[in-house]
Amino acid sequence: MDARYSFETLISAEALAAKVSELGKQITRDYRDKDTVFVGILKGSFIFMSDLVRQVQLDKLEICFMMVSSYGSGTRSSGNIIIKKDLENDLEGKHVLIVEDIIDSGNTLTYLKKYLANRRAASVRVCTILDKPSRRETELVPDYRGFEIPDAFVVGYGLDYDERFRELPEVCILHLDGKQA
Ligand code: IMP
Ligand code: MG
Repeated sequence: MDARYSFETLISAEALAAKVSELGKQITRDYRDKDTVFVGILKGSFIFMSDLVRQVQLDKLEICFMMVSSYGSGTRSSGNIIIKKDLENDLEGKHVLIVEDIIDSGNTLTYLKKYLANRRAASVRVCTILDKPSRRETELVPDYRGFEIPDAFVVGYGLDYDERFRELPEVCILHLDGKQA
């Protein structure tokens, strides 16, 4: 591993698994009997999505992904949201749950909620495994939230720094040359 980087565990793999199971039970209760579409936001949500779908029990569940980007290669939001891969699914009358890795400024999800509601979904809610409410620039409040975390740049469990470290099984605060990234 590159010696400039070090990792401070913030949320263990066990704590993540327990929380995902809890969220899955809650979502199962709320979406039972509904036509449901989980929309994962690539790339960061890929691990959370794959864990979450195995913790819900829903008869009518579609799973799909969008790719959007609001970040350059650094650790700050650009505020500009670009849709790089759109949905092919028909959302009319369906209940959409956006599955996200982290909410930071809230700009990405504020934009996406409107975008998906305009496609005549019956409802659009948000489920995120991590939330940094101290950095919010919009009114956005997630409907389902795993962990509230402090204002630090984290990697692992799907989250990257410049496309690296998504594969780490824990959520870690990234340190670069001994300082927080
Ligand atoms: P927002 O639009 O500012 O809420 O940004 C949300 C997106 O920024 C997330 O989906 C992540 O891809 C990225 N992001 C925000 N904070 C972090 C972090 O601490 N580590 C890695 N990616 C992050
Ligand atoms: Mg990212």
